Amino acid sequence: MNDLTAEIILSRIKKRERNHAVMVFDSIDSTNTQAMTLATGSAASGTVVIADTQTGGRGRFGRAWASPPGVNLYLSLILRPEIAPRFAGIFSLLGAVAVVNAIRRVSGVEAFIKWPNDVLIGGRKLAGVLLESNIAGARINHLVLGIGLNLNIPAADMPVEIRETATSLLEVCGCVTDRAEMAAALIDEIDSMVVLLESISPAAVLDEWRRHSITLDREVGVTGRFGHICAKAVDVDETGGLILRLRDGTVLTVTSGEVTLR
Ligand code: BTN
Repeated sequence: MNDLTAEIILSRIKKRERNHAVMVFDSIDSTNTQAMTLATGSAASGTVVIADTQTGGRGRFGRAWASPPGVNLYLSLILRPEIAPRFAGIFSLLGAVAVVNAIRRVSGVEAFIKWPNDVLIGGRKLAGVLLESNIAGARINHLVLGIGLNLNIPAADMPVEIRETATSLLEVCGCVTDRAEMAAALIDEIDSMVVLLESISPAAVLDEWRRHSITLDREVGVTGRFGHICAKAVDVDETGGLILRLRDGTVLTVTSGEVTLR
């Protein structure tokens, strides 16, 4: 696993918007769980947790995230943004934009975002983002932005349940990606997006998200706590919620759910 060390990753970070402590584990239950624990202690904003393999990798909606060793990237980054809690959800969209930008930079491949934060190529999922938060009243104590990115895993080695719906960069471009280079690019691109959000505005991040979206102006199905809705996806609101127009013209916004492109 010596292709993925903190020293190599730190040496490849180019933009250096800020300092990062990078921790790399051979095996861990979940980098998000570890990052949330570290953040509850005194870990600084910008601390990164990476693992070669996760024994309990977690996805959205309590799903498992397949995390075999030696092939993919499992990365979580601690953030302590000075923004109102209602804007916290923007960070999950920000994570997806950072993934798209990092993939383009390292591999020259264009990926797309399905609301809120699934990164797809050719309609198959290449990466997912899990944002977790610790919010107290009007203040965000910390966020953990967790990213799973399928890099060098052959389709034949993916769990059967996701083989038809997932992909990897290896499958897309036939190339083997240097995991440390992708980790560094991802850290760089997250930093750039956080700078955009904090020094320009959350709206600037949403504009970037719109540029890479394959969700807007499409007929979609959305499944969530509210049941299932078929509608046209028209935009995202200022907090990252998805604005839908139903067939009868009613406009509503959903803040959580799973989108199917139709
Ligand atoms: C999704 O369901 O699309 C989100 C998947 C997020 C997986 C990543 S892998 C690194 C981090 N640690 C976890 O346990 N989950 C996230």
